[in-house]
Amino acid sequence: MLNQQYIIRRMTDQDLDQIMRIEHESFAIPWSRESYQSELRNHFATYLVCDVEGEVVGYGGIWVVFEEAHITNIAIAESFRSKGLGRALMQALEDVAHKKRALRVVLEVRPSNLIARNLYESLGYVITGERKHYYVDDGEDALIMTKFLF
Ligand SMILES: CC(C)(COP(=O)(O)OP(=O)(O)OC[C@H]1O[C@@H](n2cnc3c(N)ncnc32)[C@H](O)[C@@H]1OP(=O)(O)O)[C@@H](O)C(=O)NCCC(=O)NCCS
Repeated sequence: MLNQQYIIRRMTDQDLDQIMRIEHESFAIPWSRESYQSELRNHFATYLVCDVEGEVVGYGGIWVVFEEAHITNIAIAESFRSKGLGRALMQALEDVAHKKRALRVVLEVRPSNLIARNLYESLGYVITGERKHYYVDDGEDALIMTKFLF
């Protein structure tokens, strides 16, 4: 567990330098800065960061469109992983879905991403489908995982 104080708060444009660093160490197909800038202006989207004493160490996003919520991404900086922050961020994103009265939360994950799958399964997500050749870097399929809220 992390032995420093952290808060989970809304992402702002000022966070994007730190987010781009984490994005590039976390994903084979990183989103661009422009993608985050436009997501911050998307009324369906909420982006949160995990802030440890002024340093952004993780972030995640969710879209809520009517009854369905969709986790768009989640990442924790390498040196802060396995300390409970990914779980805390997921729970904060699910709170957003709850407050907006979504009935379910959906996400995609690589079958090979066992750490993320462990996290999602432990939070109550179940596999509800797959998308063939979803990831453009290597053609890996995506598992669709869903958590039913009500
Ligand atoms: C997936 C990710 C967000 C998890 O964040 P984290 O802060 O490391 O996770 P937590 O410490 O909150 O752990 C939550 C659960 O994840 C699983 N987990 C975490 N680290 C793990 C490890 N090294 N091995 C196996 N499972 C692990 C466990 O189920 C854990 O629950 P537990 O502590 O009760 O056993 C993080 O590893 C990450 O940023 N990965 C790169 C980006 C990514 O893959 N994002 C998801 C795309 S779908």
